[in-house]
Amino acid sequence: MRVEDLDGDLEGVLISAQELQTRLKQMAAKVDADYADKDLLVVGVLKGAVMVVADFVRALSIPVQMDWMAVSSYGSSTKSSGVVRILKDLDTDLGGRHVLIVEDILDSGLTLSWLLRNLRSRGTASVEVLTLLRKPDAMRTEVDVRYLGFDIPNDFVVGYGLDYAEKYRNLDCVAKLSPKVYEH
Ligand code: PRP
Repeated sequence: MRVEDLDGDLEGVLISAQELQTRLKQMAAKVDADYADKDLLVVGVLKGAVMVVADFVRALSIPVQMDWMAVSSYGSSTKSSGVVRILKDLDTDLGGRHVLIVEDILDSGLTLSWLLRNLRSRGTASVEVLTLLRKPDAMRTEVDVRYLGFDIPNDFVVGYGLDYAEKYRNLDCVAKLSPKVYEH
């Protein structure tokens, strides 16, 4: 799905499909070099990270294993409690493994902060983070990001995995959502 298909819902493209692919290839080259002599387990965080993981792992030259987690923040719709519930855990034993968590977006940072603590407590050899997007102005806790795609403004963005009410995930770029869609 492209921006033209959603005329009216969006206020403009923030990152084009081409820019996304170019940046993912650059990040993949770094990961190739950093893990050349290691077995890497890529952990995608459902559902938003599906597109990032799919394109990122295909841009890698090294073989990796992949696994998935689904998590949800407890409590309010603003998802700011920082308490995370595991909806689907990994199938993989993390003992001695080098893990790279792949996320679509780091917003408040609370989800990743919790995930890092959780995975590191499982006897991993290392745990690093790759996130396509980060909102510096929304962050409520420091998260050490090893591989960063883009810093973006604190706007409501959708596409390339990111949703509003489960819509727009299959948009091929990252775009700003028009406030009229979420302000009733
Ligand atoms: C999004 C995103 C991160 C989290 C980031 O997931 O994929 O997991 O929010 O927010 P935070 O930095 O404020 O914790 P969401 O809970 O929307 O689920 P989804 O991936 O299924 O869309």
